[in-house]
Amino acid sequence: MKPTILKAPTSARPPENRPRIGVIGLGHWGPNHARHFSRLANLVALCDAQPSRLQQVAHLHPSARCFHSLSDMLKRCPLDAIVVATPTSSHEQVVLAALRAGMHVLCEKPLALHARVARRLCAEARRRRRILMVGHTFLFNAGIRYLRDFILRGLHGQLYYLHAKRTHYGLFRPDVNVVWDLASHDVAIFNYLLHSEPIEVSAVGFDWLRKGIHDLSFISLRYPREVMAHIHVSWLDPKKEREIMVVGDRKMAIWQDLASPGPVFIYDRYVIRKKTLLREFGDFQLLPREGDITIPKIEMEEPLLVQAQEFLDAIHRRRFPLSDGRFGASVVRALEAINASIRLRGRPMRIRAWGK
Ligand SMILES: NC(=O)c1ccc[n+]([C@@H]2O[C@H](COP(=O)([O-])OP(=O)(O)OC[C@H]3O[C@@H](n4cnc5c(N)ncnc54)[C@H](O)[C@@H]3O)[C@@H](O)[C@H]2O)c1
Repeated sequence: MKPTILKAPTSARPPENRPRIGVIGLGHWGPNHARHFSRLANLVALCDAQPSRLQQVAHLHPSARCFHSLSDMLKRCPLDAIVVATPTSSHEQVVLAALRAGMHVLCEKPLALHARVARRLCAEARRRRRILMVGHTFLFNAGIRYLRDFILRGLHGQLYYLHAKRTHYGLFRPDVNVVWDLASHDVAIFNYLLHSEPIEVSAVGFDWLRKGIHDLSFISLRYPREVMAHIHVSWLDPKKEREIMVVGDRKMAIWQDLASPGPVFIYDRYVIRKKTLLREFGDFQLLPREGDITIPKIEMEEPLLVQAQEFLDAIHRRRFPLSDGRFGASVVRALEAINASIRLRGRPMRIRAWGK
């Protein structure tokens, strides 16, 4: 089975005709965006409120102009698009200002901290005919795309459930809890794999280290057609793990980002129902069948690079990117409901679909 690798062409245009990009937020993640866009497009501006961060990244991109504020960058530097890698709590303000200035925007995940804000940002982008994309990086991961093909082809048979584990020791974010930080990846992956959104969620969370900022959560999501999904996210685990499991009645698949060899393992395992003669008519004996475990060869590409190509191609062709604003908003809606359920100690929360 071949994975679907996105073949977004990198710009073959001469550098001076490529989109002019500014990156705002040069902390832990933003410099990775700067690295890719300096290769694929015209990286003309860098912006960070902290002079030390700006300085550290600026010397790697000497042709880019440096700014300490978004308003200054928008005023003084001609740009086509902005990549937003500031903390999540600032996305609303930064993305709105960028869209209003006529920029295409690639915003880091999660798009916002409220569904109504995410919706407003989508509406602004639509009104101004700008591309709004959200950096749900794992949608551009070749292993996750392999899983999506696996599900699309129905190789699992009847889908029983999905399971995600994303644990780490830290990084303790000051502005959001572990659900916004880590579960945003898994909700995006599930929505992508199932090509749908959860109907109902329930979750419990624990704030061991800082009161009110949850560092551990166990989340259940119910998708259409009675597909159940479960997420375990933690900043308190001794081990860094990123795992997605797909369990069906014919085959099972596990993606482990950090596994070698890997990252995908296909288990040929299913239960055989054998009629028994001993008991009453209609009784079955359940026999677990264990077949091969296959590790498919998957060509890996840096997901962030593929994501950058997708953004540039969407601008070039004026089309919706995968993980567009609407997709990002669907993730925010689920995260908001998960947080509401945590506040209510696990009460199930219904999620209404767009436009209803
Ligand atoms: N897609 C992924 O896999 C992934 C990985 C890591 C982080 N992220 C996301 O990226 C975003 C940033 O995360 P990070 O770990 O780089 O955070 P960070 O705190 O390390 O860096 C944020 C930077 O933004 C700067 N900043 C904040 N507000 C600003 C403003 N108004 N104007 C200019 N600069 C400003 C800060 O000075 C800081 O240098 C978050 O939304 C996070 O969820 C995504």
